[in-house]
Amino acid sequence: MSSNLPRRSFLAAAGASALAFAGAPRVFARNQQRAGGGAGRRPVSIASGNGVPATTKAVELIRDGADPLDAVVAGVRILEDDPNDMTVGLGGLPNEEGIVELDASVMHGPTHRAGAVASLRNIRYPSAVAREVARRTDHVLLVSDGALRFAKRMGFQEENLLTEEARRAWLRWKAGLNRDDNWLEPDQFDLPMTPDNRRGAADAAIDDRILTGTIHCSAVTAGGDLAGTTTTSGLPWKLPGRVGDSPIIGAGLYTDNAIGSAGATGRGEAVIQVCGANAAVARMGAGDHPTDACIAVLKMISERTRARRLQDDKGRPRFNVVMYAVRKDGVYGSACMHEGRQFAISDERGDRLEDCAFLYARD
Ligand code: GLY
Repeated sequence: MSSNLPRRSFLAAAGASALAFAGAPRVFARNQQRAGGGAGRRPVSIASGNGVPATTKAVELIRDGADPLDAVVAGVRILEDDPNDMTVGLGGLPNEEGIVELDASVMHGPTHRAGAVASLRNIRYPSAVAREVARRTDHVLLVSDGALRFAKRMGFQEENLLTEEARRAWLRWKAGLNRDDNWLEPDQFDLPMTPDNRRGAADAAIDDRILTGTIHCSAVTAGGDLAGTTTTSGLPWKLPGRVGDSPIIGAGLYTDNAIGSAGATGRGEAVIQVCGANAAVARMGAGDHPTDACIAVLKMISERTRARRLQDDKGRPRFNVVMYAVRKDGVYGSACMHEGRQFAISDERGDRLEDCAFLYARD
């Protein structure tokens, strides 16, 4: 994993990969490729590229008769438990103070119930806590200390989630003088991009597998019932209390049992600003193939990314976002902003990774 690299090598390697995108034309349709499928074979589960264990488990449980929400929560729990996945649960990368803060949401199609937790500390399974919010309260979102107190009442164990590897990665960032911190200079909101003013370029060029890793997982049963969950440790080195898209219903996750389920990974701020998952489900409801629905959301993000610090020298977003969608009939799709990402899928053809469609081709 790139986090093993010394901080400055890490930035240099990432800068090189960002340059690879520099020449792609800002022509959306030309770079689109249809990915995904499903042909109505259910059950189906789709997840982010780190999620093959999750989709495998979800489909296995659904075949055994499990509720789709229980199935996806059990699926992502495998990654929340894995200290080597530094994007979720135990081992997730911490905030700028070295404290792990987790975000998660769930949505259950048959009841249209939703639950979420944000900035949750010391509890390894935020997706399961989010499910309890949906089941046991009349609320949708609990945050911070309130979320922790609720989790403890529900019987979840408090523990230190900062692994030695995550602590060392945080120390490397500290040693690099917080070069990629999340504070902006007062006049940095929209500085012209000049060779001397590329702070944003360095930030966004960092390997997005590390910067915005997350797991989303949606599933549809043989009978067409849907559910989804998105769980994350969020943006590494974030300001304490920063909440990304993952626990925001309609942004990092949205499920409508009449249409389909969608989720997002990547730069959460961008997904929140277009209500990404809700937009993807709405596009499927209007008749789009899931892949086209994902591409449509990425176009919305690209067209609305106006801060120069977030653009490359061609005016394209300098960050990645990946959208995932599955329709009620089992047809699925996924797309990323910049070519080169994969998504996990499990169905009657097995458990595997497939290539995401993309908005911008690699040069
Ligand atoms: N998409 C995860 C986050 O931005 O926190």
